[in-house]
Amino acid sequence: MKLVFATNNQNKLKEVKALIPSQIELLSLSDIGCEEDIPETSPTIEGNAKQKAKYIWEHYGYNCFADDTGLEVEALNGAPGVFSARYAGTAKDANANMKKLLNELDGKENRNAQFKTVIALEIEGKLTTFTGICKGSITVSKKGEGGFGYDPIFLPEEHTETFAELPLSEKNKIGHRGKAIRQLIEYFV
Ligand code: IMP
Repeated sequence: MKLVFATNNQNKLKEVKALIPSQIELLSLSDIGCEEDIPETSPTIEGNAKQKAKYIWEHYGYNCFADDTGLEVEALNGAPGVFSARYAGTAKDANANMKKLLNELDGKENRNAQFKTVIALEIEGKLTTFTGICKGSITVSKKGEGGFGYDPIFLPEEHTETFAELPLSEKNKIGHRGKAIRQLIEYFV
């Protein structure tokens, strides 16, 4: 079956393609000619995922799923959370976001954080959600070259390497998106 993943983020597509069964033909937004910015105006991660999936179904008529992820930092009452992409401004600059977060946590003892991914799946107009959480902490400086976003400053629980230092296979195994994606896959098998 054809299934649209409502993203053009090549890193995410690569992560998901490595996990999804080959009988599902995964299409990106550019594969279906969707070039516009899909509205993400909900105050919650779950709300944004649902909004994106609904948009593709209503405007393009494809079964699809959308994900929305946030990094929730305990000492910052869950921030940046739903604002993770734009934490340091609308440029969505990963380095600026990390710099701001490290500054906010400067001198704070509690560096606990978690990534949360919500996937909203829209099949013939029926919406289902799956949630994946990865607990960990924020390092004091950036480490590693891999991954994207906040990966260089996120140390997953029970690990000594940041997400940016771990191989993709390990990140998929323990990571928020991998956990949510595996629930999505179980839905189809
Ligand atoms: P999105 O909702 O998936 O676009 O993610 C929102 C923000 O969280 C973006 O700024 C991403 O850089 C960041 N983010 C999402 N997933 C990850 C991840 O796996 N590692 C690090 N940062 C991520």
